[in-house]
Amino acid sequence: MVRSIWNNYFAQNTAQLTNSVIRDLLHLTEQPSVISFAGGLPAPECFPAEELSAAAEQIIANNPVAALQYGLTEGYPPLRDLLIEHLHARQIDVCREELLLTAGSQQALDLLGRILIDPGSTIAVEDPTYLGALQSWRLYNPTYLTVPVDAEGLDVAALEQMLINGAQPRFLYIMSCFQNPTGVTLSPARREALLDLAVRFDLPIIEDDAYGELYYNDERPQPLAALDVARHGRLRYVAYLSSFSKLLAPGLRTGWVAASSGLIDKLVQVKQGTDLHTNSLAQAMIYQAVCDGLLERHVPYLRNTYRQRRDAMLAAFEQHVPVEVSWVVPEGGMFIWLTLPPYADTMEMLKLALEHDVAFVPGLPFYANGGGSNTMRLNFSHASRDDITAGIQRLAPVIERMI
Ligand SMILES: Cc1ncc(COP(=O)(O)O)c(C=O)c1O
Repeated sequence: MVRSIWNNYFAQNTAQLTNSVIRDLLHLTEQPSVISFAGGLPAPECFPAEELSAAAEQIIANNPVAALQYGLTEGYPPLRDLLIEHLHARQIDVCREELLLTAGSQQALDLLGRILIDPGSTIAVEDPTYLGALQSWRLYNPTYLTVPVDAEGLDVAALEQMLINGAQPRFLYIMSCFQNPTGVTLSPARREALLDLAVRFDLPIIEDDAYGELYYNDERPQPLAALDVARHGRLRYVAYLSSFSKLLAPGLRTGWVAASSGLIDKLVQVKQGTDLHTNSLAQAMIYQAVCDGLLERHVPYLRNTYRQRRDAMLAAFEQHVPVEVSWVVPEGGMFIWLTLPPYADTMEMLKLALEHDVAFVPGLPFYANGGGSNTMRLNFSHASRDDITAGIQRLAPVIERMI
């Protein structure tokens, strides 16, 4: 990093912000020869570019004020109303006061961090969890209570024991469907048990449902938020986050939080000082495109494409990857998580993999308190099926050598 006069004046909490070795290594994946399973990127050739372009043209021509003027912090009202209908269809009944549009769900995570975390506050996270959440909360300096995850998702019994033993997290952050990074989904029995715990221990839950619509079996798992509403008549314990990033395009930077109005009020106050409001043009475009039926046409197509890519990756694993390596088949989302024998070091393996023009993300940074150095995350949504097969053929001998 270039030192400048500014370096002498950085706020104390920025000391937490450092470049990661992995990020530096993954810069190398930008070379065209590399097949990368590292990013969490949607397939660019699947972006509904024509439809979004038509929506933009229409909205700017017919309603330039909605598209180009400053807007409400809470979000573009027609899109909020549309989302309320959308959430109702998922059995998450909310009113306008319980909904806030954000610049992607990443902004929702940051805003929640600002209003819920004091330095040293304990927060409970899955182990492993979404790296971007850890990054956004780093500035607020929490202490992490890490709860193990297995093939059925968060180990709710382990969390219960921690709470019985006196742990008092401010909230639990959980991805209940097709978790990033492991791809696992919280089982129905554990969903019920987790809500029991929320009531018993007064534990607020941030449910990040970035991937729920990308399901590859017949049914979408029911969000915890829907259970909360079914039990309590409205969102009481769960703050529900989701986004258009994985359904339409992440560049739109439009996501949302649904939660009880007391939380939304506070989030609106802090968002006002952050960016005034979410991008008006993006919100108006999404509204237009969704009214024209884009989600109904596009999301089934995405499910189909990504299911085929997942299956291509699983088939390549079966054929090429050594038997010492294990994984859980993800029923949705964008990732497969590999567990290698305990002595394997996937950070070292990444260096060797890059020499073979293939990339993945080592598991270590997904663990809030360290660990997981024998694990790795592979994305299957971005590369084509042919590249997936070729990439796993490149990766398999690297794994073999390292174990
Ligand atoms: C679990 C999870 N939450 C949140 C995000 C942020 O998404 P966005 O801000 O694009 O909505 C991501 C992005 O990959 C994610 O995987």
